[in-house]
Amino acid sequence: MAINPPVDATKTPEWAALQQHFDQLQDECINLKQWFADDPERAEKLSFELGDLHIDLSKDLIKPETLKLFADLAKAVHLPERTKDMYSGVHINNTEDRAVLHTALRRPAEEAGSLIVDGQDVVKDVRDTLKRIYDFADKVRSGEWTGVTGKKIETVVNIGIGGSDLGPVMVYEALKPYADAGIAARYISNIDPNDLAEKTKGLDPETTLFIVVSKTFTTLETLTNAREARTWLLNELNAKGAINDDSADQKAEAVRKHFIAVSTNLEKVAEFGIDPDNAFGFWNWVGGRYSVDSAVGTSLAIVYGPGRFEEFLSGFHAVDKYFAETDYEKNVVVLMGMMNVWYRNFFKAASHAVLPYDQYLHRFPAYLQQLTMESNGKSVRWDGTPVTTETGEIFWGEPGTNGQHAFYQLIHQGTQLIPADFIAFANTPNPYKDGDQDVHELFLGNFLAQTKALAFGKTADEVRAEGTPEEIVPARVFSGNRPTTSIFGVSLTPFAVGELIALYEQITFVEGTVWGIDSFDQWGVELGKQLAKEITPAISQDDNALAEQDASTQALIRFYRAKREF
Ligand code: F6P
Repeated sequence: MAINPPVDATKTPEWAALQQHFDQLQDECINLKQWFADDPERAEKLSFELGDLHIDLSKDLIKPETLKLFADLAKAVHLPERTKDMYSGVHINNTEDRAVLHTALRRPAEEAGSLIVDGQDVVKDVRDTLKRIYDFADKVRSGEWTGVTGKKIETVVNIGIGGSDLGPVMVYEALKPYADAGIAARYISNIDPNDLAEKTKGLDPETTLFIVVSKTFTTLETLTNAREARTWLLNELNAKGAINDDSADQKAEAVRKHFIAVSTNLEKVAEFGIDPDNAFGFWNWVGGRYSVDSAVGTSLAIVYGPGRFEEFLSGFHAVDKYFAETDYEKNVVVLMGMMNVWYRNFFKAASHAVLPYDQYLHRFPAYLQQLTMESNGKSVRWDGTPVTTETGEIFWGEPGTNGQHAFYQLIHQGTQLIPADFIAFANTPNPYKDGDQDVHELFLGNFLAQTKALAFGKTADEVRAEGTPEEIVPARVFSGNRPTTSIFGVSLTPFAVGELIALYEQITFVEGTVWGIDSFDQWGVELGKQLAKEITPAISQDDNALAEQDASTQALIRFYRAKREF
């Protein structure tokens, strides 16, 4: 396959122009307080509406004129062309020779027939699968689908890992107030048996439905957990007298009624014993970390219902359209991607905090870690040549206000620059007044206070004016000029969650394009998987395998063998 080499962004005149702009800002001294004073329209010029999200970049270390430089560089690395290629099914994931079509997962049904890729009517196939999922979800929600003893399903247990877990669990947590069918979900991912042991505690096997989610259906963790869950189910049903352990037919029927699967590998699903009628497919052009809006989200369609799932998809689609169609200087999705490049490559920021001021988004940073770091944590470009600048910043975070009492100290006063995205919503599903004080407003007050403190800081004179003893003054100074982006939504609806995910998917794509990275492969996870297969036999007894290990690994295994208690 012919590969178009990436443009080396760092060699373009547009990069040089951005470098010159950066040097100029450094020379004049970055001073957000001054920039706001000099330009009364700064907040307005640097704020954007994306669907129902209001996004404020004015507390970032940019000026209104920076936007054009960002847009110019994005065009110089052919972002518009690469976006068109992605949306139309060109195999831009060239190391796996695959199209990258997660944007097709959320295209409306009316667009069926408009996107034929590698002979496949993509939107039609997506919609056909969604219809099957929705029919199944409706049956489970209404109680028409029951467990083997005729009881309505009350808990769905998603077994998957990486993209087959992080997206669904994050969205499940985010949308909890919308659960309306008396069905809860649990998510098992880790191969550590402790995970399954804890997540099955208190479950009634008669009312539990397992969804085994694996794109490849070969992932060690997922298949091990799926087998363990099957054993758990059969043992528990047997213990309750619901099935007879000696009856192969009853066991097969129990598996049929309590296990469904989601995969691109339907042959392996059948091998596991799951009825192909109860398996939902997707396609190899959906990357694991870009798959929550495919059949991978089946647990969500069951818990929240097809209507909510459709709203969720509409949120993604709104951002996809905006990203592809909005002029780059006004395109906040492109601008946020370029701003991450700005911080990573010009300010040398090694990490990026994502701080949701909404407890329901508590898994959002973990979800983003896979999306961003598995996508852009790479040292070679899509043509195999080394990258020409730093890539892949570390994404991390915790919900406010918990983070404030943990690591914000370092963001405010540490020696490194950490750009931070704050995400908050105007409305809460759980309003509460503490006396006269609306607690959601108290919460929002903290979000606004933090971004203000980070931007404007506190000078030594201001500290002194509070009567602080001179020797303590330096410790109480806040430098300010610590960049934040505020993403303010109306309510954390299914639509808004779709918007947020698509926003970060596209930001990741923008960064990857500037760096010349194939953001859709993940070869970096393979070596560890391969070595685990080789090392595992050495752990328990295979002395030949042990002898082949390095000295450190051997010593660790010897420690284990000496200390194990079984
Ligand atoms: O960790 C590597 C990875 O391939 C991820 O990209 C993926 O989301 C995860 O494993 C799970 O893969 P699967 O869905 O095939 O089980």
